[in-house]
Amino acid sequence: MTLGQLLPSLRPSLSTQLSADVWPVTARRGEDGDLLVGGVGLTALAASHGTPSYVVDSADVRLRCREYVTAFGPGNVAYTAKALLSCGVARWVAEEGLSLYAGSAGELRVARAAGFSGEQIVLYGSAKTPEDLTAAYTGGVAAIVAESLGEITRLAATAPRGQRVLLRVIAGPGPGVGLDSRFGLRIDTGEAETAVARIAAQSGLTLVGLDCSVGHQENRFGVYEEELRRIVDFLAAMRDRHGTELTRLNLGGGHAVAYAGGDLGFALAAFANRMRGVLRLRAEQHRIPVPRLTVSPGRALVSRAGVTLYRVLSTAHGPDGRRLVAVDGGMTDCPPAALCGGHHSVALVGRTSRAQLQPTTVVGRHNEVDDVVSPSVDLPADVHPGDLLAVAGTGAYHHCRASNYHLVGRPALLSVQDGQLATLVRRESIADLLARDLDLPPDADAVPATAVPATAGRGMARA
Ligand SMILES: Cc1ncc(COP(=O)(O)O)c(C=O)c1O
Repeated sequence: MTLGQLLPSLRPSLSTQLSADVWPVTARRGEDGDLLVGGVGLTALAASHGTPSYVVDSADVRLRCREYVTAFGPGNVAYTAKALLSCGVARWVAEEGLSLYAGSAGELRVARAAGFSGEQIVLYGSAKTPEDLTAAYTGGVAAIVAESLGEITRLAATAPRGQRVLLRVIAGPGPGVGLDSRFGLRIDTGEAETAVARIAAQSGLTLVGLDCSVGHQENRFGVYEEELRRIVDFLAAMRDRHGTELTRLNLGGGHAVAYAGGDLGFALAAFANRMRGVLRLRAEQHRIPVPRLTVSPGRALVSRAGVTLYRVLSTAHGPDGRRLVAVDGGMTDCPPAALCGGHHSVALVGRTSRAQLQPTTVVGRHNEVDDVVSPSVDLPADVHPGDLLAVAGTGAYHHCRASNYHLVGRPALLSVQDGQLATLVRRESIADLLARDLDLPPDADAVPATAVPATAGRGMARA
């Protein structure tokens, strides 16, 4: 049930409010119902660059980076790049002093181009390809995360001498302590200990620490605490049984963000203090040195910076009488697997409305049951084709998980800052897509991807 359904008296006012926890830090309502992000009006942006478009507020990304560095200390925060990556985004993160977790040769390539040195990059991934490993060796990454016993043998055989390795462990058993992870070395079965011994036996590899991940959208501090305690117990056991001193512990990411007003936030400073306290206490109990605590969040650094701008194409009522508003994107750019529960906040952009708010499902253009942008939001009853809708919280796991289903091109990724607009990644045209179909005659009738040229607006421009 939405807030407007619970409190009907709030309905007219809710349409213009922007929850500060959900929308980008610079988001403001402008005149005539426009929405400004980074000082750029989204109505003008839609006219010049088309829809759907991903809009990223660089000030928001930088703010989150600074909050993390303040909470965990310089050198202790890495950005897990799979959440959102372009050369421009990576450059902001590098400038804020974070390091980076890369999951492929492609991500490594972008990170290097954006200014990260090899020493600032960690390669992780449950099934690394020969290409990924070669890129990591060539780039001289700070460490490679080993995630299976077989991988240790492979690293020993192929890595440059002295290659530093982190071991990804699964701390379970128990709810929320990583046993849903498909890869990593389980502590409870003895597999993680075998891995420690196997790395120690390889003179070419240097084990520098442990790595783990508790999952996604997790805001129960207790889950992280339990993970930490079990890992410190394991560190102590490895010191006692193998004489191995591991000085670094990466607690991963998974920190939850709010997608709608009323969602629980994540008290970052309190979290960092609590984790440091748990770590210190447990290490002291075991009389081992306190390992350096690092984190590698993805979503929490970029999710709130992103807004997707859509044009409404049609409205209808579903079989259950529910109002449906269909936009010019959908599951192709707002993937069902974006791992956020899908309850994004939505705002009408570009005009004000005095119409009553109505419970609405915003759907895409792909006519599938899971082609849903937001299942239940309050929108003015007079929303109609041609209107613009902005969807909040789409900075993480949207651009990177977009698809070409129905042979539609992926949206542009646009950055906004201080009234300036820049194209980070251009819109994908139908020509881009069809160029890969080698049976398609080159003179096939061209269908324009959009009224806006694919290259429109590249570089900085006044909005
Ligand atoms: C190394 C690493 N860091 C962080 C995360 C969590 O990412 P996020 O913070 O975006 O939920 C994962 C999850 O897959 C991961 O494997």
